[in-house]
Amino acid sequence: MIKRLIPLLLVISIVACQTAIKKERITGRITDSAMVVSAHPLASRAGSEILQKGGNAIDAAIATQLVLAVVHPSAGNVGGGGFMVVRLNDGSAYTLDYRETAPSGATTNMYLGETGEVIKGLSETGHLASGVPGTVAGLAEAHKKFGKLPWKELVQPAIDLAMDGFILTEHEAEGLNYIQEDLEKFNSILPNHLMNAWKAGDSIRHTDLGYALERIRDNGRAGFYEGKTADLIVEEMKRGNGLITHEDLQAYQAIWREPITGEYKNYKIISMPPPSSGGIALIQLLKSVEPYPIQEWGWNTAPTVHLMTEAERRVYADRAAYLGDPDFFEVPVDKITHPVYIEERMKTFDPQKATPSRDIKEGVLQPGESSQTTHLSVIDQYGNAVAVTTTLNDGYGSRVVVAGAGFILNDEMDDFSMKPGVPNMYGAIGGEANKIMPGKRMLSSMTPTIVEKDGHLLMVVGTPGGTTIITSVFQTILNVLEHNMTMQEAVTAKRFHSQWIPDTIQPEFGALLKDDSLQLIRYGHTFESRSSIGRVDAILVLANGKLEGGADPRGDDAADGF
Ligand code: DON
Repeated sequence: MIKRLIPLLLVISIVACQTAIKKERITGRITDSAMVVSAHPLASRAGSEILQKGGNAIDAAIATQLVLAVVHPSAGNVGGGGFMVVRLNDGSAYTLDYRETAPSGATTNMYLGETGEVIKGLSETGHLASGVPGTVAGLAEAHKKFGKLPWKELVQPAIDLAMDGFILTEHEAEGLNYIQEDLEKFNSILPNHLMNAWKAGDSIRHTDLGYALERIRDNGRAGFYEGKTADLIVEEMKRGNGLITHEDLQAYQAIWREPITGEYKNYKIISMPPPSSGGIALIQLLKSVEPYPIQEWGWNTAPTVHLMTEAERRVYADRAAYLGDPDFFEVPVDKITHPVYIEERMKTFDPQKATPSRDIKEGVLQPGESSQTTHLSVIDQYGNAVAVTTTLNDGYGSRVVVAGAGFILNDEMDDFSMKPGVPNMYGAIGGEANKIMPGKRMLSSMTPTIVEKDGHLLMVVGTPGGTTIITSVFQTILNVLEHNMTMQEAVTAKRFHSQWIPDTIQPEFGALLKDDSLQLIRYGHTFESRSSIGRVDAILVLANGKLEGGADPRGDDAADGF
């Protein structure tokens, strides 16, 4: 009885908070030819200045990401990893994988206790939670292949902010205050520059990080994976019984991978292949809903939400079974993105009835032929586009600050499957495909994506949010393509999430109207509310060739350009 009442109570609260769909159009920042949208105004500014100096989108993405490591340390990083999707102005596309790897000393059962239970928190905070960082290797590799301006010029803006200091926003001050206890708990040498009761308007400097960035500026990847910074990382690991060694750091390689591409109507989707699950899942989702008239059904109406949720159940069940690091596990990419397979998966879709998640398993493969976060989107004045999503995993990663180097290490190991069927911090379940092995990359949901229309660049999009990344990118794309929203409206619009397990629809407050919520309950759905989903940063190429930025109002996100 109580179980039946909860969704109804939720509907009442959703309705209380719902925002009426506004009639007037809201547009984001519009520029003539070049734009950077990221999680922090100073980072977007730095990227835009690089473009103004004649740099290209790859240069701007590198500078923006390094500034985020200084001004947005919950997710911007040099101690984490990420993915970059590039589309050059000639239409060629590339993806760069600089995901963290499990250290050589990692073992499949390293987070299990003596009786085989998962030791709570061990993969989430502290020294054992960190994978070998990939960010610096990735940025250096991107620059080597595509960079236009000298590397030093791209690193310098981050150094200047770290050394000279900058003003904290309310979001950033709150974030730093939130982790004070963990900083004390996990750092035997306390990171003085982060310890304080912060408030908006305070000025903060990160001098140790500034020196670490100078070594990166002067020596490129060797300025991180060798020499003083490498020594400081290994010393930090020894202090906290972590696993990363000098050999692990030296062996780390960023990898260029074949982009995952798919068609949705007359649009082409270019996204991140494994070890991200994002690109595959996004294409599976778009293909699953393609045959249905969602434009006619309307934005976030019961039939639309029901269809999208049913597709999401099936796609996340596939994610748990079939996706992992392709260098360690044969990921059946072609099979599970094949239109016939997706059609088959949707054959059990009932437009009037929710399929309980327990009745959904991964799809049957046909025999035969045969992976706190932040996103930035860039389009340069030459027509090149870059989508980067980068992460420490949870906000402020493992909460371990490398003493003397001033940066936070990731807790990406939690993205592995610690034990078959046991959910990680995002509720994601996995098994064999995503088990821990030395040198292996943990499965990701990050979905940096570029959309083309009729062969021309249309959109650059991505977001943080763990497993909600995929569904947020899915919704943002449909908001523009099907629901005729501006880029800013598509980014601002309330979101919902569903991922097979748990068997719920998780709406932000205001995402669903009362009647639609009641209809969804009649179909058999249950709800679990969420305060905020994602921080999407996107750029749309308008019909007149100008660019419209969509900067997520859920954070400090900002568009900059000219
Ligand atoms: O790679 C992944 O899927 C996760 N580590 C992303 C974490 C994330 O988005 C956290 N941000 N809110």
